[in-house]
Amino acid sequence: MGKVDVVLGSFYGDEGKGKIIDYLGGKADVALRATGGNNAGHSIEVDSEKYVFHLIPSGILNKGTLAIIGNGVVIDPKVLIEEINSLKSKGKDVSNLRISTKAHVIFPYHIEMDKMLEENRGSKKIGTTVRGIGPCYCDKYERCGIRIEDLYSSHFKDLLTRNVENKNKIFAINNYPQLDVDKIYSEYLEYSKIIKEYVCDTTVLIHKLLKEDKKIICEGAQATLLDIDFGSYPYVTSSNPTIGGIITGSGINAHDIGEVYGVMKAYSSRVGAGPYVTEQDNEIGDKIRELGHEYGATTKRPRRCGYLDLVALKYAVLVNGITALCINHLDTIGKLDKIKLCVAYERDGKKTEEFTTNEDELLRSTAVYEEFKGNFGDISKIRKRCDLPKNALKYIERIEEYVGVPIKFIGVGAKREEMICEVE
Ligand code: IMO
Ligand code: MG
Repeated sequence: MGKVDVVLGSFYGDEGKGKIIDYLGGKADVALRATGGNNAGHSIEVDSEKYVFHLIPSGILNKGTLAIIGNGVVIDPKVLIEEINSLKSKGKDVSNLRISTKAHVIFPYHIEMDKMLEENRGSKKIGTTVRGIGPCYCDKYERCGIRIEDLYSSHFKDLLTRNVENKNKIFAINNYPQLDVDKIYSEYLEYSKIIKEYVCDTTVLIHKLLKEDKKIICEGAQATLLDIDFGSYPYVTSSNPTIGGIITGSGINAHDIGEVYGVMKAYSSRVGAGPYVTEQDNEIGDKIRELGHEYGATTKRPRRCGYLDLVALKYAVLVNGITALCINHLDTIGKLDKIKLCVAYERDGKKTEEFTTNEDELLRSTAVYEEFKGNFGDISKIRKRCDLPKNALKYIERIEEYVGVPIKFIGVGAKREEMICEVE
């Protein structure tokens, strides 16, 4: 039986999952997305051509790899088609794309609703990507959502009409413009024709492939601390990017899971609002942002930056069953003279190594740091861990010791090949 190796974000997203996925993808038969939507942004550079993926698993770049969008993903067909066309225009073959019949569809009213809800939150904004992700998942759980398979059904127009009428009532109260059912209907009918060739029951397909001993890489989107259950609610996304979401978002079972790779950076970053204990809202954070080019791939927003938080990392290891860590941007943090590593939180006069998602508790927590020497020099050419400078080794060994999980990938530069890799 084949296995599904899973790549997950350990913090607040943007850990550089794309780089690891790109490496592992080369060895996989299938690339799978199971959660989130086009709030994700994974950039990959191949042959000096830059690709940014929001929906399609980036594994599609590898010839012959099947790319599956699972049932747990919410799909904006307009964005999907743009992505398909962009790949085609770069000469890439997309005939290997498969889309779940059960995936929910994002409509214009979801995007408008996302905008409206953010505006109504006033000073308590979540800082969403305004892609309609939250409202689409809301409809899914409210059971009025429209799935990919519904686009091909005789009741599509009725479903859509009911949804648009209901949403228009809410828009009216909020002085938001009314949406036109017929316009949306004809637009989506066109989209449905374009994507029809890719639509199938992906759960049946995945189990068939596993039986054929195929290797599947699941490309996680978002991250542990953005998880609707395990993240810093309400400053989270509306799905489960943790390991459970991979299972429900694809239909694999617990036994199908192989390695669980937790991706992190040698420092931390966050987009959007919410508590962030190791944030450096000062010249150090600014320096990390510039050195690490920490600007959003999806929204271009400058990311909040800070030191690495091992208390949170240990939590991510527990929640996901992470079996190996992938650390990116070791070169970036190594450009600082001094590096700090958060090894505990201090709250109400007490020290703790236990993470919490309680907003009040997080806001009352300060980081307890251990200090390390930086100035690693140029490490971009290093391909063996043992060749890393002493300061860099001390830093990563402390991380492994603290969380009890080996680091198997080390990013030493921005380029695709600038990586130390200890996976066969
Ligand atoms: P990748 O896969 C970073 C954040 C948003 C916001 C919160 C809710 O690229 O790591 P949403 O639009 O999902 O309702 O926004 O979640 N967020 C991300 N931050 N990387 C992502 O994905 C994100 N996806 C959502 O910034 O704070
Ligand atoms: Mg991102």
